[in-house]
Amino acid sequence: MPDALLSVEGLRKSFPGRGGGLSRRAVRAVADVSFHLRRGETLGLVGESGCGKSTLARLVLHLIAPDGGSVLIDGTPFTGASERQRRKLRRRLQIVFQDALSSLNPRMTVGVNIAEPMRLQGLGTPAERHDAARELLQLVGLRAGDAARYPHEFSGGQCQRIAIARALILHPDIVVFDEAVSALDVSIRSQILRLILDLQQRLGLSYIFISHDLGVVKRVADRIAVMYLGRIVEIGPAEDVVRNPQHPYTRALLRAIPIADPRRMRVQDLGLAAADVASQAPPAAGCAFQPRCTLRLAVCVQEVPPTVQVAPGHTAMCHHVAPGNALASRA
Ligand SMILES: Nc1ncnc2c1ncn2[C@@H]1O[C@H](COP(=O)(O)OP(=O)(O)O)[C@@H](O)[C@H]1O
Ligand SMILES: [Mg+2]
Repeated sequence: MPDALLSVEGLRKSFPGRGGGLSRRAVRAVADVSFHLRRGETLGLVGESGCGKSTLARLVLHLIAPDGGSVLIDGTPFTGASERQRRKLRRRLQIVFQDALSSLNPRMTVGVNIAEPMRLQGLGTPAERHDAARELLQLVGLRAGDAARYPHEFSGGQCQRIAIARALILHPDIVVFDEAVSALDVSIRSQILRLILDLQQRLGLSYIFISHDLGVVKRVADRIAVMYLGRIVEIGPAEDVVRNPQHPYTRALLRAIPIADPRRMRVQDLGLAAADVASQAPPAAGCAFQPRCTLRLAVCVQEVPPTVQVAPGHTAMCHHVAPGNALASRA
């Protein structure tokens, strides 16, 4: 992808199983993931809890090492770079987590917290870092004077603003939001989403926006990637994916949107065939989704589905999907 700011190719990561003895089967958290991110766009990444979204984010940021695959930023390999190069590349990518308060150091003032990435990178004098933090506080809708206060003095939404300020202090190109608004009440969530979009416009940022809630993702994303058991099963322009979903899993997630509290989303709400298996291992053969799929055919049990392009930039991994044989035409 020539105009990609970020390219991810064939990323893989397994973890040792958590059970004891024979049940210690490795968990394939990220199976074989490739995607790209263009400058200025938001890629939404959606899927149920346990499908591998956070692991993928940590791999992209090189907070953990992949078992295989690569990450390129502006064509420069992040994977396999020297420690010095990696340090420089790391500045260009920042992450905001769900639990802002616990990601801030309670013993440091908000100003010192925000400036910490600068200090770790050996940038600026203490006075310069302090000024930068004060400026960022205003940019995220707080007061410059808040720099002298401590994290526990702020609400959840305000802490998320502080975490965003800290993510911006190194002038990154890419910000990954990992469930960054999931713990917030609806009205606060809307305010933070507006701030995130406003900052993107003002600073020309590119985003990977991760959430288990497709209803939130579709409000902010230009493109949407749907993840199931470590794989991207559908990806495309947000409008295409929402209006013309191809994978049965995407369709199930879309049906689940009106449920009042998405954190309590249960499988029966998804209208799928079997019990909750999202956190379990995929079947030994065939499509990972087939145990839950209401459209299962013999081929689904036997063969891994190919990735099929259904429209420009819109692909899905499903035996039912073929150019001209799209699920949409069967609905
Ligand atoms: N450090 C770890 N050790 C063992 N298993 C892990 C670890 N991190 C994640 N996993 C497992 O990998 C899978 C994907 O987890 P995660 O990436 O956190 O999913 P998500 O963010 O979509 O909820 C889960 O089965 C989870 O239990
Ligand atoms: Mg997660």
